[in-house]
Amino acid sequence: VAPFVVSAPGKIILFGEHAVVYGKTAIAGSVDMRAYALVTPRKDGKTRLFLPDINVDVYFDSTQLARLSPSSLSHPCEIETQLTGIVAAEGPGRTAILTFAYMYGSLFERGNMGGFTICVRSLLPVGSGLGSSAAFGVVLSTALLQLTGHLKQMGASAEDRKLINHWAYRGEQVAHGTPSGIDNAVATYGGFLAYTRGSESVSLHSTRALRVLITNTQVPKSTKALVASVRTLRERHPEVVDTILDSIHSISTAAGSLFQSHKPCCSELQDIVRLNHGLLATLGVSHPSLERIREITEARGMASKLTGAGGGGCALTLIPIDVSGAAVDRVAQELGEVGFRCYQTVVGGAG
Ligand code: PMV
Repeated sequence: VAPFVVSAPGKIILFGEHAVVYGKTAIAGSVDMRAYALVTPRKDGKTRLFLPDINVDVYFDSTQLARLSPSSLSHPCEIETQLTGIVAAEGPGRTAILTFAYMYGSLFERGNMGGFTICVRSLLPVGSGLGSSAAFGVVLSTALLQLTGHLKQMGASAEDRKLINHWAYRGEQVAHGTPSGIDNAVATYGGFLAYTRGSESVSLHSTRALRVLITNTQVPKSTKALVASVRTLRERHPEVVDTILDSIHSISTAAGSLFQSHKPCCSELQDIVRLNHGLLATLGVSHPSLERIREITEARGMASKLTGAGGGGCALTLIPIDVSGAAVDRVAQELGEVGFRCYQTVVGGAG
């Protein structure tokens, strides 16, 4: 095999976070910050997983990997039990190694791939709700499927994408237990997707990408704790909270119609960004840092909302079409001076 490179984007939830947990619709899009994998063949028969951004550099010999039998597990996250003694790393490095071993083991059962080095680099911050693990899963599954000869058009056909998404979802199960599947779907297909639990995600086929400023508060958040806090509030006040969740669902529906009408960045979209943030704040998942981002951007006429679980993490700001790059630089600089980290992105690009 000749060396090759594959890449996949991160994701951002535009509307519907938290409500999606209760069966409402969420809208997500791809962000143009990507993970890249470079695969090069090796002559010594070894397999090297090199992830310089998270300090992983492990060598597997083919007998170690051939001994894995993921198909005997009842859940992908149990792959850990077949790797005792091999994985010393902790945190994201450990998760990445386990994901790789699971996917390698599964695809090895379907076709030998010889020795190679896979080096993955990513522009996505880890643990910020931008789908870094799903982008990693998609580049891994694409690379391994390509190496085992499963892809007909190097990922370009609908059939190839389906297979890539299937294995990337398995990778997400290793990393997150019971993921919804939206992150890997966005990383595989790109564009904008409407997602409702228990249904296939629906591509919105918008022709226009959106300019979005993503601001990382750098305040650590726990998705699990925030989801639990909404659950508690709902148990105490079911009617009140269900009304809020229904309103969020209506926002996602409105956004879906706007995207499909091919006029995504209009004043109606700004309205629903503000409405969605207000409802999330009412559910108690905002944070002073997120409110600060809103104040700074609103002072320049730009609408912002939290994205993902809230409680810190990231906010998104819509950049209207008539706002110049220099004006965006100024607001990003102001946010940077307060201690936040900004990324100017385009949402809705290729998978
Ligand atoms: O912060 P993230 O990107 O992991 O988003 C969490 C989104 C929630 O709706 C709050 C939880 C979920 O599982 O959908």
